[in-house]
Amino acid sequence: SAQPSNAPRRVENLHTEKGKVPVYATGIVEQPWDTYSADDHATWATLYARQRELLVGRACDEFLQAQDAMGMTPDAIPKFTELNEVLEAATGWTLLGVEGLLPELDFFDHLANRRFPVTWWIRRPDQIDYIEEPDLFHDLFGHVPLLMNPVFADYMEAYGKGGVKAHGIGPDALQNLTRLYWYTVEFGLIQQADGLRIFGAGIVSSKGESIYSLESDAPNRIGFDLERIMRTRYRIDTYQKTYFVIDSFEQLMDATGPDFTPIYARLAQQDTVGAGTVRDEDRVFHRGTGEGWTAGGDV
Ligand code: PHE
Ligand code: FE
Repeated sequence: SAQPSNAPRRVENLHTEKGKVPVYATGIVEQPWDTYSADDHATWATLYARQRELLVGRACDEFLQAQDAMGMTPDAIPKFTELNEVLEAATGWTLLGVEGLLPELDFFDHLANRRFPVTWWIRRPDQIDYIEEPDLFHDLFGHVPLLMNPVFADYMEAYGKGGVKAHGIGPDALQNLTRLYWYTVEFGLIQQADGLRIFGAGIVSSKGESIYSLESDAPNRIGFDLERIMRTRYRIDTYQKTYFVIDSFEQLMDATGPDFTPIYARLAQQDTVGAGTVRDEDRVFHRGTGEGWTAGGDV
């Protein structure tokens, strides 16, 4: 297949500082691996060790197995080129170094072509517990392992293609689709034979939410329902008020297979659902107590 015009090429004279790495096509860079400091590698090691310990028995088996299979370790920040050899052989996905968030359509186009953009820089030591924008730890530790799973790998490609399409339909369709991403790829839970587990990248990369999402009585845990999710507002500044639970990645793939065009049209006639709302029709795993929730702020 044709080489995309924005495929990575070698960039000379890299600088270490965030924001100073040459960007040669809408946010894409070559991972400046040699410029990571001892502090950067130590931040990776600390976060990696802490989350792995926390996630045994909390993250789904597929996530933990995939992370091992990729050869990620706490020893050093992984090289995208080395991970790519394993990932490409497994599911045909490749990682692309990026400076930060990309324009929506670029992001969708990468996913549609099985390229996953990964932020090259890692948070500072004083940001260990919380950072607003996605960094290398969130992207690489959180998102990349499940790309080794054939079904999830297909879901992400389908999502990218769906994103290109929704972008052409309009902002409301995009918002519906973004909610699906938020409540699955970022904050999804899965029902495993031995209990609820995490698969969302936003949860597995957060110490606090890894515990809260599964063990707190405060949030709702509700069975996956495509249109319900696409109507549900969410939080960007606090832990989620509601988590949605899938039965399997196959269920996710099957439910999202049909053309969304008529669904977008239908949703345009309906009200949104609040981030913490439970409806009579919901399949409730746990009804949240709402303890500690802040009023307002749903987006
Ligand atoms: N079937 C969706 C559509 O027609 C595409 C999609 C698949 C979106 C998987 C999200 C996830 O738009
Ligand atoms: Fe993310």
